[in-house]
Amino acid sequence: RETPQNILVETRGRVGVITLNRPKALNALDEATLREVVAASAAMDADPGTGAIVLTGSEKAFAAGADIKEMAGRGAAEMYLADWFAGWEAFTRVRTPVVGAVAGYALGGGCELAMMCDILLAADTARFGQPEINLGVIPGMGGSQRLARAVGKAKAMDMVLTGRTIDAEEAERAGLVSRVVPAAELLQEALGVAETVAAKSLPSVLAAKEAVNASFETTLAQGVQFERRLFHALFATEDQKEGMAAFAEKRAPRFTHR
Ligand code: CAA
Repeated sequence: RETPQNILVETRGRVGVITLNRPKALNALDEATLREVVAASAAMDADPGTGAIVLTGSEKAFAAGADIKEMAGRGAAEMYLADWFAGWEAFTRVRTPVVGAVAGYALGGGCELAMMCDILLAADTARFGQPEINLGVIPGMGGSQRLARAVGKAKAMDMVLTGRTIDAEEAERAGLVSRVVPAAELLQEALGVAETVAAKSLPSVLAAKEAVNASFETTLAQGVQFERRLFHALFATEDQKEGMAAFAEKRAPRFTHR
């Protein structure tokens, strides 16, 4: 595989860490960055030694959006034929949980990429927004859909129509992020969350992510049934036997699949 230019990739025990690293463009998500994030996350996903992934950026920017300069001169037919941004769907198909850690700007595609993560932590410096309306366009990496699902119509319309940026506190109040932490502790906190997830039994972790994600795609009755079927299936794992035996014996479980 070619060496990535716009991201840093490392492994810390059972946690894979992807750091967006294109400082001269505030981590703007160009095509090369897309390819690199998708390839790195797919490689981690394929490795059963990786139980969780952390995706982060810099102190100043998680990502300031799609790369405006790369898109500016393109025509509609070209965008359509390339199916511009469709490549990010591969990132949403990663089965391993992804902990997003946002400091600074998460704008446009940056906010949309953050919303593709499963658990989202924000530094107190984080700023979220969908400013595409100021460029004469609209969100194109799922923002109108995921923001509406994450924070509801009122705030989604407010952000998408005015381009208003919200701070970390407002993002937490609205349910966009699960925790706000001091900027200096963001990475440590994200690694801690990822290590916690990675220490569980991997089949149950993958099933849990799959079940929650199904809630966005199905009716309640179908979703509840899907959850129940996954629940039943997990009784085929030795880790279910171990987890429940450990509870009865008042000791920590020693999971095989982790
Ligand atoms: N695309 C390309 N380059 C970008 C960029 C982007 N989204 N965001 C920042 N940059 C570049 C700047 O052009 C600048 O490069 P030069 O030094 O070569 O001029 C460099 O990064 C540093 O940026 P600034 O000088 O602007 O930094 P600042 O601190 O003054 O401002 C900012 C920071 C408010 C985030 C500002 O950079 C900004 O408004 N960026 C654009 C935000 C935006 O509109 N994002 C949406 C993009 S469209 C999109 O994402 C579509 C989609 O739905 C997927």
